[in-house]
Parts: sequence; structure tokens; C-alpha cells
Amino acid sequence: MGKNSFTRRQFMQIGTGAVAAGAAVKVTLLQPSLLAASPAPYAPSDTVRFASIGTGIRGCELLKATLRVPGIECVAACDLYDSRHRAAQEAVEKQVPTTRNYKEILDRKDVDAVIIAVTDHQHRKVFEDACAAGKDIYCEKPMSHTVEDGFAMINAAHKANRIVQIGSQRVSSILYAKAKEIYDSGKLGDVCCIEAYWDRNTASGAWVYPIPPDASEQTIDWNTFLDGAPKRPFDPVRFFRWRCFTDYGEGLAGDLFVHLISGIHFITGTNMPAQRAQSAGGLFRWKDGREFPDLIETYYDYPNFRVNLRCNLNNEGGEFIGFYGTKGTLIIKDTTLTYTPQDTRPQPEAYSIYGWPADLRNQYLAKWHEEHPLPATLDFKLDEESEVYANPPEYNDVSDHQANFFNAVRSRKPVVENEIFGNNAAIGCHLSNFAYANKSIAVWDGEAKKIVKG
Ligand SMILES: NC(=O)c1ccc[n+]([C@@H]2O[C@H](COP(=O)([O-])OP(=O)(O)OC[C@H]3O[C@@H](n4cnc5c(N)ncnc54)[C@H](O)[C@@H]3O)[C@@H](O)[C@H]2O)c1
Repeated sequence: MGKNSFTRRQFMQIGTGAVAAGAAVKVTLLQPSLLAASPAPYAPSDTVRFASIGTGIRGCELLKATLRVPGIECVAACDLYDSRHRAAQEAVEKQVPTTRNYKEILDRKDVDAVIIAVTDHQHRKVFEDACAAGKDIYCEKPMSHTVEDGFAMINAAHKANRIVQIGSQRVSSILYAKAKEIYDSGKLGDVCCIEAYWDRNTASGAWVYPIPPDASEQTIDWNTFLDGAPKRPFDPVRFFRWRCFTDYGEGLAGDLFVHLISGIHFITGTNMPAQRAQSAGGLFRWKDGREFPDLIETYYDYPNFRVNLRCNLNNEGGEFIGFYGTKGTLIIKDTTLTYTPQDTRPQPEAYSIYGWPADLRNQYLAKWHEEHPLPATLDFKLDEESEVYANPPEYNDVSDHQANFFNAVRSRKPVVENEIFGNNAAIGCHLSNFAYANKSIAVWDGEAKKIVKG
């Protein structure tokens, strides 16, 4: 996944770059807060015992990240592919028991919580079973494979009164917390335009993952993988590159838009899905049998602003979110955040008066300057200066997101990204894909809880 911390060298470059450019810039290295605030050591009675269901790429990343979170203990791991049992044990640095059957984990009374990092089309099934078994849940993004799945998952969580965190970790990031603070302060003025992109230019970025040499019907429980999807003969490409296929994934929208939407919802305090969406794009390069475009752009309508998102697998552009307000601009680019105030001091009209004769123009300018005397030279500066913030070296927002979840499991207090938040963000992905697939405007019908053609 994307980088979320800044190397020391990159940080030095930003700092010196800003100074060299002569700009009025204050560069601040943000300090990790959430993990640091966790009391350690925890009493054994406060230790949260968890298991991971799905220990592929993300499952292993998450297990590694849990090693930084105090007061928790991994007690089991589950995956349909046997070699991933070993990968999980290596990630968590412990010979935890492993299984292909997640119900064995849900039956264990000593498991308080589960991490669900299975393929998207299996989220709902595992999630509902985990709720019914009384487990708290950290479920990977996008929360749902379909709109219907998302609402069923909300019902299951509420019925069983579970703590749920969805896995778009940026919402726990210190960089996003700073962005939210700036947004909430009003320093941006009115923000009616937001744009974001996440662009990559590698085979890995386009999900062309290698097939491990031992992958076979003997080492993989293919039939269980197909649960909730059409039956078909064993196909390792579908198993390992599932993001490319509509039966299991949601393409770029489910993989990357969901992070951008979650970030935008978090920073702007939005607690609803977009009202409608229009998409454009195409499959230009990665023509390997995939069922999704390798470039997609979606325009979303929200009540108070418009959002323009793009993912392009044909150019390395990194991760970007920009908020354009009447008083300032806020840009998050990879691991840095820049706030730049707009110069909103009164100015005489400087353009249309060139269509006036000189005497009228001069009269107008003289009158304007009379009515708007310049401040004394020393007072003549922008109200605020540009500010740059960066994640410290080795910062990991995944561990912060996990700490937020595990703390909530203990305290029963709300998490930062619950099932409602996760569902709203996932609906944004489904709106994008609906608009693209149907070549029409996708409208969110909140009453009917479904997407309709506009
Ligand atoms: N938050 C992030 O930044 C981030 C990054 C990558 C992936 N993800 C999400 O994590 C999830 C997993 O993605 P991945 O890249 O690890 O995929 P992956 O293919 O590497 O791993 C998925 C694993 O789920 C297992 N699985 C599927 N159904 C199962 C079941 N019923 N029981 C047990 N195991 C089952 C498969 O065997 C597979 O090993 C997806 O939802 C993905 O969108 C999130």
C-alpha cells in the first residue's frame, strides 16, 4: 500500500526546498499521538485477544502492524491458502494455531476480536458470522462488495452490539488529524471544490501479482473462495488477482477511491454518501482479461461541495487530496500537508478597466485608492503564512488505526471509522462503478437504499 511516512531525506528536501524558494513557510514534523497515548504495559485482564481471518498481503501487513500496538495478543490465524498460514506466523512472530475454517476461530471463547482481511466478496459472510459469535471486528476496506452487503453488515453489527472499525487507516493518521483541524478552523473559508487522485505506474500497482509456485487445488480451498460468487474451475489468476474481477472486487474504486473518499469524509465531517456520480475512464494498457478500467475518473455531488476523483494505473502520480477554499488551499500529497492562504485583501479591478479609456481608468483607480488606503508598509503582509506538516520518519498510520480499534474494544467507546462511516465510503465506490458500467449518472436513493440511474 501507499507510503505513509516520510524518510528523513525527503523531509530535509521539503524543509530546505521551501526555504530556498523564499516562501513564508513553517515546516512542522508531526508527532505520533495515538499509540503514544496508550498506557503500557496493560494488565493481563485488559489484554485483547484477537485472530486474523484472511492472512494474504493485507492480513500479513496488519499482523506486522499489530506488533507495535500494546495490550493485544494474536491467538490464531485463518486463510484458505496453506502457505499463508506460515506467512501469518512469520508476520506475527509467533506459532499461532492456523486453520482454513474461520468458524473454528469464531467458536473459541477466548477470542475477543477478529481482523477480517479476506477478499471483498467474502467480507459480509465472515462479518455477519463474527457478529453472531459476539466478536468485535476490524474489517478491511471497502466494507462492502455490494450496496446490499453494506446494509446487511450494519444490521448485523447493531443487532449484536459490536465494536466495528473499517480499515481505511488514513482516518487515524496524524496528517489527516492536522488537515481536519485546519479545515474545521475555517481557515479555508468556503470549500466547494475538492479533488483527489491516486496514480500508479507499475505492474504491482495494477495488481499483476505473481502466482506463488505452490498454488494448486491441494494448497488452496478454491470452493470456499467461490462462496457468494459463480462456480468455475480452479483459476489461480482469479484467486491472487481478484481485484481485477467483478465477482470478487470493485476495481480501482473499491481499492483506492475508498481511501480518498474516507479521507475526504473524515476531514470534512461528512456522514452521508455522495448524492450522485458521473464516471469516465477506460482500459488502455493492462489488457490481461480484467473486467475493470485502468483509468477511472468520477465526479461526485455532495450538498456543500463537488468532489473529483481519479485513479490512473498508467502514470506514477502518488496520492493527493486538495481542498480549494475561498480563503485558502489545503493539499495532502503523500506524506505532507500544505496549507496556503489565498490573498483576499481588497484589490482594485485590474482586468476589465483595460477596456476603458485612460482618463476613466485613472479616475476609477484614484477613487479606489482613496477609499482603500494602503496599510503602513510594516503592516503590509498576509494575515497568515503557508504551513507545511509532515509525518515523521517510520510513521505508520495502520498501527494508529488498530490502536484506535483495540482501545475501543476495551473501553466500548466509539471508533473513528465505524460501520456507518465505512458503508458511506463504500457506497461512493459503488456509485462510481455503477456510473461507469451503465454509462449513466448514478443517483443515491437513500430512502430505498439503492443506486438508480439518473
Ligand atoms: N487498508 C488498506 O490499505 C488495504 C490494503 C490492501 C488490501 N486491503 C483489503 O484487504 C482485504 C484483503 O486484501 P489482500 O490484498 O490481502 O488480498 P489477498 O488475496 O492477498 O488475501 C486475501 C486472503 O483472503 C483469504 N480468504 C478469502 N476468503 C476467505 C475465507 N472465507 N476464509 C478465510 N480466508 C479467506 C484468501 O485465501 C486470501 O489469502 C481486501 O478487502 C482488500 O481490499 C486493504
